[in-house]
Amino acid sequence: MFNTKKIILVAGITAVFAGLSACNEKLTSNVTPIMDGEYASNYVEIIKANDGKYLDSKVIEAILGKGATHGRDGLQGKLDPKNPYSFEVDDSIDGGNHGNSQCKVPMAFTRVQDSAAKNYKNDATFVAKGFGTPIAEAALEKWNITVDGDGKGLPDSSVGMTVEEGGAVYVQFCAMCHGEFGEGAKGYLALAVDEDLIASDPKDPAPMKSVGNYWPYSATLFDYIRRTMPFWTPNADYIGDKGYLGITGYIMQANYIPIGFDEDGESMELEDDTFYNAEVLMKQNKFMKNQGNFFCDHRPIIHNERCMKDCPDTMVGDGSGDIHNFVEARKLPDGTPQYNVPQRLNEAPPGVGHTGM
Ligand code: HEC
Repeated sequence: MFNTKKIILVAGITAVFAGLSACNEKLTSNVTPIMDGEYASNYVEIIKANDGKYLDSKVIEAILGKGATHGRDGLQGKLDPKNPYSFEVDDSIDGGNHGNSQCKVPMAFTRVQDSAAKNYKNDATFVAKGFGTPIAEAALEKWNITVDGDGKGLPDSSVGMTVEEGGAVYVQFCAMCHGEFGEGAKGYLALAVDEDLIASDPKDPAPMKSVGNYWPYSATLFDYIRRTMPFWTPNADYIGDKGYLGITGYIMQANYIPIGFDEDGESMELEDDTFYNAEVLMKQNKFMKNQGNFFCDHRPIIHNERCMKDCPDTMVGDGSGDIHNFVEARKLPDGTPQYNVPQRLNEAPPGVGHTGM
C-alpha cells in the first residue's frame, strides 16, 4: 500500500474531550523537574504527582523539556484523550499540518515507558496511565461494538439521521481522503465505483473493488466504518452512532444500493430525506449486489500426497489416469462443484481482482 508513519497512542487518559476543559487542566502538583539529560531524571515522581497521566501534555513537557511539543499548542489539542487509540499520520500523506512532531514525542516517551511500567508493577499505589499498562474495562467497552452480518449489535432504530445530513458529516470527515462522492482522493480508496467486478478482457487491469460491487453486507460496512474511520480517530465521539449511520446511508446512496423493489420490480433508491437508521440499513443488507458471491466453502480439507512423476492412474485427472479428463474431478464426491474451476479452465471470464492496493 503506502507508507504511513503512524503512531498509535494508547492514551488511557480519563480527561474530557480535547479542546474543552481538558486543555485547561493544570499539573496537580508541581514537582520540579531535574533536567540532567534528555529527560527529567525524576520523571516517575512527576508522573505520580500527576495521577499517572504521563500522556498529559503538561507532564510530557515537564519531563521532556519545553521544546517537547515542538512549539505547537501542546499535545492535548491534537489528541482525543477519550479515545484510547489516537492515530497520527504523516503530513505528506494527507496534507494536514499536524503530523511529525506528535510522532516524535511518544517515541521519546517509550524510553521513559519501560521503567514506568516496571515501577507500576512494583508499587501497588502507582497507576501509570499510558503505554504498556493494563487496559481499563471502560476503554475496552468503547471497542466492544461488533455488528454481525445479520445486524446483531446495531444501534436502536431511533438513532440515525437523514441521508443528506449524513452526506454533510461524510464531507467533513471522510471526503478529503475518499472524495466527496466516494470517487477516491489523493490515492485513497474509492468507496463508490461504477465498475463490474468481472473484467471483460483478461488483459484489462483488475477492476476496483468497492462498496457497491464488492461488500457483502451493509451491516458490516457500518461496523467497519465505525471501528476504523476516520483513519486517525476511529469510533469518534464527535461523529457518534447517529453520524456513522448517516455516513453509511450516504455511501449506500452513492452506490445505488436499493432499499427495496416496487410492484413493477423497479428498484427503490434512498432519498436525501430518508431517515437512515438500523432498520433501513438492514433492509438494504439483503440487496448488496455482490452478496451472492460470498458463500461458505464446504469443501473438506484433504491432504493429498503430491505426485509429479510416474504417477499411478488413481492420482491423475479424475482418477482414471487421463490427465485431460479433469472435468469430473471438479466435483466433490457429493457432486458439489468446486470453487472457481470454470475460471481456471478459461471457460468463464476471469474472476474478481483488485487494482494494486
Ligand atoms: C486520512 C485519510 C482517511 C480518512 C479521513 C478516512 N479514511 Fe477511510 N480509508 C482510508 C484508508 C487508508 C483506507 C484503507 C485502510 C486499510 O485497507 O487498512 C480506508 C478504507 C476505508 C473503507 C474500506 C474500503 C474498502 O472497500 O476496502 C471504507 C468503507 C472507508 N474507509 C470509509 C471511510 C469513512 C466513512 C470515513 C469518514 C468517517 C473515512 N473512511 C475517513 C483513509 C481514510
